Amino acid sequence: MTVSLVGAGPGDPGLLTRRGAELLAVADVVVYDRLIARELLDLAPAGAELIDVGKGPGQSGRQAEINALLVTHGRSGRRVVRLKGGDPFVFGRGGEEAEACRSAGVEVEVVPGVSSAFAAPAAAGIPVTHRNVSTSVTVVTGHAGDPSMLGVDWEALGRLDGTLVILMGMGARAAIAERLVAAGREATVPVAVVHWGTTDRQQVVRTDLAHLADVDLPAPAAIVVGAVAGLDVTGAVDAAVGGGGDG
Ligand SMILES: C[S@@+](CC[C@H](N)C(=O)[O-])C[C@H]1O[C@@H](n2cnc3c(N)ncnc32)[C@H](O)[C@@H]1O
Repeated sequence: MTVSLVGAGPGDPGLLTRRGAELLAVADVVVYDRLIARELLDLAPAGAELIDVGKGPGQSGRQAEINALLVTHGRSGRRVVRLKGGDPFVFGRGGEEAEACRSAGVEVEVVPGVSSAFAAPAAAGIPVTHRNVSTSVTVVTGHAGDPSMLGVDWEALGRLDGTLVILMGMGARAAIAERLVAAGREATVPVAVVHWGTTDRQQVVRTDLAHLADVDLPAPAAIVVGAVAGLDVTGAVDAAVGGGGDG
């Protein structure tokens, strides 16, 4: 009676952990998300039941159904892998799923994953805490509809000097840039937007805070704000918008 919450990593199937692969290889049921690499499902046994619970934007109400599904399958005694994008506990609602299972008497194992919050910048050649450039990195949600965003203190973040990584922020990027600048962050501070980082669909746009609103990339994307966003220590290919970037 164990449900394993497994981090699938940011998109490159090679970034699944070994423990995650071991659990998938013996899974009876795999309950998976929208952003996971589909190749990972091939690691499950041929007879495994594969259940797509991918939520599109605005479908967060389905979380209760997902929790109930995990409890039902967990109670049935089958080996359940809950495969979640990135790390299950980084804006993934994995904590709620674990709580739902535990309160129903179903054991939970968590297998951490490589979070896009760090992997997407890395794939664009951005070391988020590059020595002598940034001594901190803060990860926040930029999703305007996300209840947890209500708690984001953009004014305080605008006064910080370190690296800011914003997930789910493309929809609200204009407002976010405006609030950060109003709070004191310089409009010329470098910004990188990394779309589908680590995958063969990766696109990187370099700009600055003043021009973040002009970046036209769809989700999933990670927005990196701070001096490190101007770095490309691995020579990743990218494009520039407005004032920032070097092409
Ligand atoms: C619901 S959050 C889940 C985050 C996930 N738990 C993690 O640790 O990466 C989804 C958001 O993560 C970011 N994201 C996920 N995969 C990404 C990728 N490959 N490249 C850039 N951003 C990504 C995007 O901001 C996306 O909207």
